[in-house]
Amino acid sequence: MGEALENRAAHVLRLVGPGVPADAALRGYLSGRAGLREGEGRQVSRAVFSYYRWLGWLDPDGSAQARIAAALAMQERFERDPGSVKAEALGARAVPAWLAQEMDLPPQYLRSLQSEPALWIRAKVAGLAAVVTDLGSCAPPALPAALAAPPGLAALRYTGAADLHRTAGYRSGAFEIQDLSSQLVGHACRPEPGETWWDACAGEGGKTLHLGDLMRNKGLVWATDRSQRRLAALKRRAARAGMFNYRCAAWSGTGRAPFGAPCNGVLVDAPCSGVGTWQRNPHARWTTSQEDVRELASVQAALLLAAARAVKPGGRLVYSVCTLTRSETTAVADGFGASHPGFEPWPLPIAAAPGACRLALWPQDLDSNGMFLAAWKRVR
Ligand SMILES: C[S@@+](CC[C@H](N)C(=O)[O-])C[C@H]1O[C@@H](n2cnc3c(N)ncnc32)[C@H](O)[C@@H]1O
Repeated sequence: MGEALENRAAHVLRLVGPGVPADAALRGYLSGRAGLREGEGRQVSRAVFSYYRWLGWLDPDGSAQARIAAALAMQERFERDPGSVKAEALGARAVPAWLAQEMDLPPQYLRSLQSEPALWIRAKVAGLAAVVTDLGSCAPPALPAALAAPPGLAALRYTGAADLHRTAGYRSGAFEIQDLSSQLVGHACRPEPGETWWDACAGEGGKTLHLGDLMRNKGLVWATDRSQRRLAALKRRAARAGMFNYRCAAWSGTGRAPFGAPCNGVLVDAPCSGVGTWQRNPHARWTTSQEDVRELASVQAALLLAAARAVKPGGRLVYSVCTLTRSETTAVADGFGASHPGFEPWPLPIAAAPGACRLALWPQDLDSNGMFLAAWKRVR
């Protein structure tokens, strides 16, 4: 590497600030350096993310470069011997103190936070075998016993070194980069070809595209979000994926759906604190507060309430958030259930236990983001 790795990573840390999280700073840094040699960008990313993973151990008076070098050494030592750091130390230093009030912190969970995350892709259901052959270095997940393998699961863990965005398969829409637990949300909806679904918080369309593929491009997915910028990205992704059975509209999260027909299913993939993504995005551990969690919980409750009106009798409502805090998961689901007697809990089709209407997917079980799901059926 030309310039020292620690200097490059320190440059990125200087770009991080209010409104500029570490992943955005990294993207900005790397996009301005087309001349980086193969693998250099990955090394800078590793150094920056290691820094935030091990921040609780670093000498506050050290230079940025010394702290980055210390974090990389801790990362390497941990990868060689995960038992070298005690669970109590992880509970005290790897996450903010308030987290223990919001969720259990089993040692395996804390250890998973300190390792590098897996990279998951989602092939189109009909093109899974071709992606495996063309891309190589990928394999299906081993699901934990709590999950029933869903039909059409086309998740692959990629372990190769290619920049996936530059591969022919990505450019032709043969696969998307999508975390395994996000893919399980699509399967939990179990949409059927010909149905009408509403992806109420569609964002850039990760789950919209998946619903469309599971519906084999038949029927309709309404994709709404309050962000027009995200919906524009969704349209670009849908064009690449060859998805046609969707329509987009802005929706601010209050009032009725911006379309008429009631739906067979509504997915509320709500904005959340993202605590479930703290392995992939360790900087967020130090910028997310318990106050954020509480505020988001009331946004989630309001979104669920507004979106539920569009579910037709017999239809399903699925709630998902990439967090495991009690305020944003069971408390929101309890509140909705208690105030909506017209909805009954609906057993999630991805759960192995018969009748399980809620699921917490833990990072250490799936090697992917933490995710909570709950589902209901409208009975009247
Ligand atoms: C978890 S993200 C959605 C991710 C997306 N479903 C995917 O799989 O790619 C939550 C989305 O909710 C949107 N959002 C936040 N507050 C909202 C509100 N009050 N009404 C509607 N959308 C909202 C955000 O713009 C964001 O795109």
